[in-house]
Amino acid sequence: MTTAQPQGKVLPIRIAGDPVLHEPCADVTEFDAELEAFIETMFASMYAAEGVGLAANQIGVAKRIFVYDCPDATEQNQIGHVINPVLRELPATERILDDNAEACLSVPGQHAFVARPDTATVDGVDKNGNPISVTGTGLLARCLQHETDHLNGYLYIDRIAKKERQAILKELGTTY
Ligand code: NI
Repeated sequence: MTTAQPQGKVLPIRIAGDPVLHEPCADVTEFDAELEAFIETMFASMYAAEGVGLAANQIGVAKRIFVYDCPDATEQNQIGHVINPVLRELPATERILDDNAEACLSVPGQHAFVARPDTATVDGVDKNGNPISVTGTGLLARCLQHETDHLNGYLYIDRIAKKERQAILKELGTTY
């Protein structure tokens, strides 16, 4: 659990089937006070939902922003935000797959096993528009990839077998 409790307002989490989750989000181009306030809203919404990461479209805003407060392989929680993230492609020879279970606030009460590289780096900018890079191991590696997927319009269940995805959507009582 986290101790940080930002003062942003809490917005409801959008659920699989909501079109905003299934389309690519737009790059952020304005770095102003409104953006800063929105990032606070994202943190507050993530903490209220007890998530370790949140993408902007999960609260209905189709902009390329995610926030995280997530443990890495050393069990240290890393906290931050990334705007306009791009996942660095690892050469196949450097990829070690982690095939743990994955879950998502937008697919409540469900999980599935998804193999992803066990280290990930995203390049982007911070709320002031300054270039940043975040590298994660452990759960944070999965989180960085999962949140970037969200901003590209994909859920983790888009990476599993169709049959398994359909079973999960049926459980949720939704479709897309
Ligand atoms: Ni998610």
